[in-house]
Amino acid sequence: MGNVYVFDHPLIQHKLTFIRDKNTGTKEFRELVNEVAALMAYEITREMPLREVEIETPLMKAKCKVLAGKKLGIVPILRAGIGMVDGILKLIPAAKVGHIGLYRDPETLEPVHYYSKMPTDIGERELIVLDPMLATGGSASAAIQALKEMGAKNIKFMCIIAAPEGVGRLQKDHPDIDIYVAAVDEKLDEKSYIVPGLGDAGDRLFGTK
Ligand code: PRP
Ligand code: URA
Repeated sequence: MGNVYVFDHPLIQHKLTFIRDKNTGTKEFRELVNEVAALMAYEITREMPLREVEIETPLMKAKCKVLAGKKLGIVPILRAGIGMVDGILKLIPAAKVGHIGLYRDPETLEPVHYYSKMPTDIGERELIVLDPMLATGGSASAAIQALKEMGAKNIKFMCIIAAPEGVGRLQKDHPDIDIYVAAVDEKLDEKSYIVPGLGDAGDRLFGTK
């Protein structure tokens, strides 16, 4: 079973409160989502392996550390996952970005896969799939399934708010995947929105409602 890591860092929790607030406008919402994504990426990358290199400082030769191991790829689920990309790229500018397009059919709630474009070497990369919301888990599960079918072997899932139902679904469908989240909320409402949640992440990010 995959692990669930809840990031309760005070900065993340503080920013999350303003993300949830319905009075937060599009510009600030976007900035906050990127800031939380960056803080979460900082935590997720804590265990990244390092290797030693020798460099010369202005004073002497020194053995120092640089990142080693697998290269990173981030995969936002369109649309709302896009809102987390810039924050992460500020920390890890060399990461490649794949895109996967899924939307949740409002009637059936089933994910509809309409687009994907991945780096050619996804099988060799550590991938972090991004979506601010894990509600029923249908979109995340379908995205991860599609990535596995494209050859991805090492996948993490990062979201800002999850419902217990979505966490359970992802753990059942993909027991090999760890989940990183800023908050696990109470439940889904009758329209499968997360409550208390933040509303529709895509609409709030892009100002479409
Ligand atoms: C939202 C959200 C997730 C999905 C979560 O996207 O960004 O992708 O719903 O719901 P689920 O866990 O029940 O699948 P939406 O379908 O609204 O599409 P959008 O990003 O294009 O607005
Ligand atoms: N998608 C969202 O954007 N918000 C929810 O609460 C559930 C799905």
